[in-house]
Amino acid sequence: MTLSKGSEDKLFMAYQKKIQQFQFDDAVASVFSDMIKRSVPGYENIISMIGLFTQAHAQQGTNCYDLGCSLGASTLAILGNLEHKDCFIIGVDNSSAMTERCQSNLSQFYDSTKFKIYCEDIQNMELENASVIVLNFTLQFINKSERNDLIKKIYQALVPGGVLILSEKILFDNPQKNQLFVDIHHGFKKAQGYSDLEISQKRSALENTLVPEPTSNHLQRLNNAGFTQADMWFQCLNFASFFAIKS
Ligand SMILES: C[S@@+](CC[C@H](N)C(=O)[O-])C[C@H]1O[C@@H](n2cnc3c(N)ncnc32)[C@H](O)[C@@H]1O
Repeated sequence: MTLSKGSEDKLFMAYQKKIQQFQFDDAVASVFSDMIKRSVPGYENIISMIGLFTQAHAQQGTNCYDLGCSLGASTLAILGNLEHKDCFIIGVDNSSAMTERCQSNLSQFYDSTKFKIYCEDIQNMELENASVIVLNFTLQFINKSERNDLIKKIYQALVPGGVLILSEKILFDNPQKNQLFVDIHHGFKKAQGYSDLEISQKRSALENTLVPEPTSNHLQRLNNAGFTQADMWFQCLNFASFFAIKS
């Protein structure tokens, strides 16, 4: 089961004299499915792999969390891959525009005894008895100084053998390499039908809101939190996904 296509993203098409800071409001939620697929190379691949990670690592009688669940694409991938395991799925997002749509998307396929969607800040949310936790392009929106605490909280909430899947836009230490990937990503977005104006206006809106970090920071943070095994399993241009297991 996957999300329906939704409306086409035209939010940054018209020239804006003053660019407002990017927010996950009603306007964004109404086009988000189209926006993320046309902005993140490999997004759909990552979603289907979240399903396979869930199939391999979800444990009987535990919780699976999708933190920053948006419209529920990863939540659906988790729900669809539990086979006969008795797990409870919890999606969390602090945008009510997202959680209302997420609730209605999931209800089309699953009954409400299997999952619960909370409109809540993931930093305040209590997490427990988890075998799978997904942070799919969400950590990059959390204040940098607060990321360590969130990853530690996730580690504490996992049962032995539990896994975290963390996907992020990434930075490269080498400025030339960074620019190379930024330019190719720009080309990717143009190939998806976005104009130069749309790309540059959205980039300005996201500045200081989406704050990427180098791969080394992510791996170090995962290790510091207690994960003894943490690896990057996916990279396409300046987008990556990490997989960490609690032993
Ligand atoms: C890029 S989207 C995530 C995409 C989604 N995980 C997926 O796979 O389709 C980031 C989401 O994180 C949510 N978010 C950002 N900061 C949050 C926070 N502190 N607590 C809860 N949700 C947050 C936003 O509202 C947004 O829906």
